[in-house]
Amino acid sequence: MFYISKAVAVIAVVAAVGAVATIIALSVVYAQEKAKNEVTAPSTTGPPATTGSPATTGLPATTTPSIPKEPWKRYRLPDSLAPISYNVTLWPRLEPNKGGLYIFTGHSVVVFTCVKETDLIIIHSNKLNLTRFQDHLAKLSGLDGATVPSVSNSWLEEPTQYLVVQLSSKLQAGKSYELYTEFVGELADDLGGFYRSEYMEDRVKKVVATTQMQPTDARKAFPCFDEPAMKAIFHMTLIHPVGTVALANAMNYEPTNVTIEGQTVTRTSFEPTKIMSTYLLAFVVCEFTFIRTPPGADVLVINPLIWARRKAIEEGQGDYALNKTGPILTFFEKYYNSPYPLEKSDQIALPDFSAGAMENWGLITYRETALLYNPDMSSNGDKEWVATVISHELAHMWFGNLVTMKWWNDLWLNEGFATYVSYLGANSAEPDWNIKDLIVLNEVHGVMAVDALASSHPLSSKEEDIQKPEQISELFDSITYSKGAAVLRMLSEFITEAVFSRGLSYPSITLSLFKWSSFQAVNATTPSLGLPESVEDIMNRWILQMGFPVVTIDTKTGRVSQKHFLLDPDSVVERPSPYSYEWFVPITWAKADGVEQQYWLLKKEDTNTKMTIGTGEWLLANINMTGFYRVNYDSENWERLLTKLSSQHQDIPVINRAQIIDDAFNLARAKAVSTILALKTTKYLFREVEYMPWQTASRNLDYFFLMFDRSEVYGPMQAYIKKQITPLFNYFKELTLNWTKIPDGHTDQYNQVNAISMACSTGVEGCEELTTGWFRAWMKDPTNNLINANLRSTVYCSAIAAGGVDEWDFAWSMYKNATIASEADKLMYALSCTKQPWLLNRYLEYCLDPEMIRKQDATSTIVYIASNAIGQPLAWDFIRANWNHLFNDYGGGSFSFGRLINGVTKRFSTEFEYKQLQQFKEDHVEGGFGSATMALEQALERTKANINWVSLNKEQVLAWFTNETASPVY
Ligand SMILES: *[C@@H]1O[C@H](CO)[C@@H](O)[C@H](O)[C@H]1NC(C)=O
Ligand SMILES: *[C@@H]1O[C@H](CO)[C@@H](O)[C@H](O)[C@H]1NC(C)=O
Ligand SMILES: *[C@@H]1O[C@H](CO)[C@@H](O)[C@H](O)[C@H]1NC(C)=O
Ligand SMILES: [Zn+2]
Repeated sequence: MFYISKAVAVIAVVAAVGAVATIIALSVVYAQEKAKNEVTAPSTTGPPATTGSPATTGLPATTTPSIPKEPWKRYRLPDSLAPISYNVTLWPRLEPNKGGLYIFTGHSVVVFTCVKETDLIIIHSNKLNLTRFQDHLAKLSGLDGATVPSVSNSWLEEPTQYLVVQLSSKLQAGKSYELYTEFVGELADDLGGFYRSEYMEDRVKKVVATTQMQPTDARKAFPCFDEPAMKAIFHMTLIHPVGTVALANAMNYEPTNVTIEGQTVTRTSFEPTKIMSTYLLAFVVCEFTFIRTPPGADVLVINPLIWARRKAIEEGQGDYALNKTGPILTFFEKYYNSPYPLEKSDQIALPDFSAGAMENWGLITYRETALLYNPDMSSNGDKEWVATVISHELAHMWFGNLVTMKWWNDLWLNEGFATYVSYLGANSAEPDWNIKDLIVLNEVHGVMAVDALASSHPLSSKEEDIQKPEQISELFDSITYSKGAAVLRMLSEFITEAVFSRGLSYPSITLSLFKWSSFQAVNATTPSLGLPESVEDIMNRWILQMGFPVVTIDTKTGRVSQKHFLLDPDSVVERPSPYSYEWFVPITWAKADGVEQQYWLLKKEDTNTKMTIGTGEWLLANINMTGFYRVNYDSENWERLLTKLSSQHQDIPVINRAQIIDDAFNLARAKAVSTILALKTTKYLFREVEYMPWQTASRNLDYFFLMFDRSEVYGPMQAYIKKQITPLFNYFKELTLNWTKIPDGHTDQYNQVNAISMACSTGVEGCEELTTGWFRAWMKDPTNNLINANLRSTVYCSAIAAGGVDEWDFAWSMYKNATIASEADKLMYALSCTKQPWLLNRYLEYCLDPEMIRKQDATSTIVYIASNAIGQPLAWDFIRANWNHLFNDYGGGSFSFGRLINGVTKRFSTEFEYKQLQQFKEDHVEGGFGSATMALEQALERTKANINWVSLNKEQVLAWFTNETASPVY
């Protein structure tokens, strides 16, 4: 059994990893001007660093942080200078120098206009070693006869990442100047700025030089005014080894071979870019190859290229991305009513990439799993990931890149928007997937769990609160991406998608945040919208205050009310809200007759709505979960909804079947309804074949497994799930002609995985035989893996759980030999599914040996093992025994102690475990817990909450499961 909770947990982990990857990966900015001449320079930047340190620094309220007097100590650039263009030459060395260091050299000229008289030039520069000219770090000259003051002093201001140049007299407003610098930087493997990625090809190590500038690392590649509103034109030149190819944002001119410093090298120059932000720059030097649509077959003006390792391209792994890029671009051209803004579109897959992808203008970078697809080895989930990430990045080519946010505090609009429309774009490329519905599972449900905490934060931040690079990086979270998308989806639904997209392209309108003026203007020409309040007033309540409401409908009286929804009803909300945590809530609702109605809740409660029901009727609100809120009803309506589910669930839209389950379980956690009511929403599932309700139930039941899978509740709970899942297992058996074909539907393919994993873990007849049979066939003929890619994770896991050392060792050798990253990941997870303690302990030991398990995978492996009920205590012992070693040797880079502590303590729900955790904290108090400090506190808090929850619910949950499995199935 243990592994049902594990299977469920893994789905959650995968989803979380996916979310995090999207979050960090997909990137950037939004909009102020949508005009062909968006050259408007940084005069719009607003006052620099006017309001001092952000509240988030945790300074006591009494000490008003003072604004540093020296401009170079402030994190925002002064508004006295505005860049016009750059001319940059970079030469990355793909071989280490004598000191064993990989470096790049370069020189750069920036042309800028003086907007306000000043005797100070402040420009970003980080980790660059600048050459001195007569004692100064830069050379200044004037254009158009401007007189040039001499440099009196220059230095690097490290905390704020500036090159500061003081002048003997003032620059003149209205005149332009040139600043020249020469520099050396490290081409490190740190995944930021201009960095190095490596891979093996035919046993030869290949080095790639590539970039990740967002949000604030362009300044690591060359000195620049590194703020999004400081747009300029870039003339790039790359020097690179003969035989390599150089790519950048713009089209290249013909490369030439030249001799520099006695070496023959190739020089590639690029056409000037459009006016653009520094964070969208990209350049790559590599030995990759590409595919493109054969000329002639192409309907688009531009011909997109997909770049990757030669082997990956030869194996056709770029074909899927290429085939989908055209349709998605065509979709967005229509959606934005505006042609693709550039002359070329390159997309490149990199072996080392920190995020999922980055929307560099004209040269989008991806990690391999986000762009490459192998039909034999990749699952349909891998495929969906590729389609949505491409769609997200292409959406930014207009929204974000052409039209760019003024400052990072508006990031949510950029990212929320791209996330929302990525579903529309992917839908145009894969119309059969119904992917627009999945936004509810992938974004809305997930982020509601975060936004229901008292520690959440509003979508929008104040400009003055976002100053330092780490504050900017912190914004890339699930609120920004997923809640941003959910709230824009809600807007799009209540003003209609047609009006929403027209708002984006409305001519000559400045789309300025919080003004929503283009949507207003559209409203003016679309009187039939009939909103009760302005779009701005409605949206401000969702943007400027954190959280969301629970709407409670009393169908006996028609009373409807709202309240800030908190997962822990006892938590204290300290953050004030300008709207006292009330929202303007668009409520769509329907009764048994299916006629949908729209109602706006504009105050705390309305005692007199039409939302009442007569005998035999039922009422459903938040149709298709288009609103970002939860719904509670009087108990009578709940009962009627349950009855409807049990008799004719198809009468309730599939998204709402998932919504009812998710709302009920979350309302139960918040003590707003009983746990038994939540469990009752799963009773009808034995008739359900759709993915969304099953997936929602399985995620919510996961918590029950974590709490009870080592207690007497476990048996009856297993029996109940077995009873519910058996019909689904048989349904897929039939649909797939006894497991010989793949279901046609995209979500059916997902749900087949749910059916098999839950059936095998609860012992449904025929399941284990099936998975072990497939696995044995593969063991007999290791070069011939016939297991369908969608099912591999769950089949491997099930077979290894049922098997012994032979199965385990076979999977281990397959893991070590895997050449495709996604296949290796599936095996790495499945190895944690064994029920043999000694194998689990051995696997844990491997985690400390980088020859066995790469350091980057150590955390996830330990967490996988801990999510196995048998592995959990072993992993906890292991962590305690090896804490110092782990802490000292694995402390850097991607090793996440926070995630480790979370994963290993997730099940803790007894006083004994609480004491152990406290003891652990005391034992290591001097060494500290580094990045796990907060996780440890949260683990203690969560354990307390779990103890309470279990003591409150255990008896009734046990009784309910027992009773449900005693009653006959019908
Ligand atoms: C540069 O030199 C290499 C090797 O001699 C040659 O293959 C390549 O065609 C040359 N490229 C150009 C642009 O002349
Ligand atoms: C939108 O149009 C309706 C109907 O004309 C009007 O009542 C409402 O005030 C308008 N809203 C805005 C924001 O202009
Ligand atoms: C709800 O979603 C389903 C599935 O996407 C769709 O067919 C249906 O039209 C939607 N209902 C409403 C009222 O929008
Ligand atoms: Zn993005």
